Amino acid sequence: MEQQFLVEDEQQIHGAPDTAVKRVMFVDDDQSVLDDLKRSLASMPPEWQMTFCTSGRDALKELASGEFDVVVTDMRMPGMSGSELLAEILERHPGIVRIVLSGNLEQDLALRSATAAHQYLVKPCDAATLRATLDAALRIRTLLVSPKLRRLVSRMTSLPSLPSVYARLVESLENAETSSRELGEIIAQDVGMTAKILQLANSAFFGLYRYIANPCEAAVYLGVDTIRSLALSTSVFSAFQDKGVPELFIAQLQRHSMITGMLAHAIARAENLPKKACDSSLVGGFLHDVGKLVLVANYANEYYGVLATARREKVPCHEAESRVFAANHAEIGAYLLWLWGLPDSVCNAVAFHHRPGDCSSAVFTASGAVHVADALQHEMDGQPDSVFRADIDMNYLATLRLTARLPEWRKLCSKHSEGE
Ligand SMILES: [Fe+2]
Ligand SMILES: [Fe+2]
Repeated sequence: MEQQFLVEDEQQIHGAPDTAVKRVMFVDDDQSVLDDLKRSLASMPPEWQMTFCTSGRDALKELASGEFDVVVTDMRMPGMSGSELLAEILERHPGIVRIVLSGNLEQDLALRSATAAHQYLVKPCDAATLRATLDAALRIRTLLVSPKLRRLVSRMTSLPSLPSVYARLVESLENAETSSRELGEIIAQDVGMTAKILQLANSAFFGLYRYIANPCEAAVYLGVDTIRSLALSTSVFSAFQDKGVPELFIAQLQRHSMITGMLAHAIARAENLPKKACDSSLVGGFLHDVGKLVLVANYANEYYGVLATARREKVPCHEAESRVFAANHAEIGAYLLWLWGLPDSVCNAVAFHHRPGDCSSAVFTASGAVHVADALQHEMDGQPDSVFRADIDMNYLATLRLTARLPEWRKLCSKHSEGE
């Protein structure tokens, strides 16, 4: 399992070349669109097996007859629409990666697919974008070896929020005077809402051709009406139901995540990383423990068992998680964010925050900044025996000749904490 995340380069995503058969299905009622797709994908490796269907009904029949990895569907089709098809796939085959490839949609149709699709492409889609999207979707499937976990994460269309923050969002949405900036400020306090709004704002559906890294900016871009529709009619945001998850645990996780994001950003800036890497450090730091939310939301009892084991045996939390789930929160969180189409630099920062040395980049990147920030945040909290402690990988720092920078980063972090 540990080897699954090894990469050659920070920019090149996840995993060694995988020669296993991959099955991709395309669904479009227009045969000429399918013919174009066939043409643009003609030179794909032989292990890619492609199936083309002209209706949702045919697609479901094919899906029932064998294992598929990815489905790419049109939205507007006679009979069964793309969103109906996606909803059926979510129900019957939750492990499949769901991608929409559609022409310009009315807002209503676009919003309806917001929960059912992982990613969105807009017609006409050039061959390079299509191939890169499919390639990434197929590669990430090798990252979580457990089919059960893959199905679980793939089925998650939203991430539960802290009930108090969710209540504030709903209250603000009911107020006609609320501005998108105010909504953004609420969303920026919550890991789950932030991940979701970044997925949506950066999807091709909303026609944006530059990456938005900031949840406030994403809220302003989408606007109050869109966020209201998303929140109230498609439940892209949700609150933790009381399944034995104490609000304090989630509140602490949110606080730790927020500070880690700020610290990672400060460290990245101190090391003069490019703006994009500084942005990825901020977002990656904020989302680095998102996998814990996935685990707690779905396996609260087992997760408390994990924490008890970590405490009793004095092992890091992520090690205790791997024993129980055959994957840890870093891998699970990164898988979710990759599925949702967040940039590689953010996903890598999440995937490698407990073992930055495995992300074999020869330079300091957002992954390194998040790793250090996470450890320093725990250190500053002053609970060395906490199950949540994270140790700095000194070998990693030594390899990058950055050990001498640690005192400076510590100073920077205490300055930020004082200002908190
Ligand atoms: Fe972590
Ligand atoms: Fe953490």
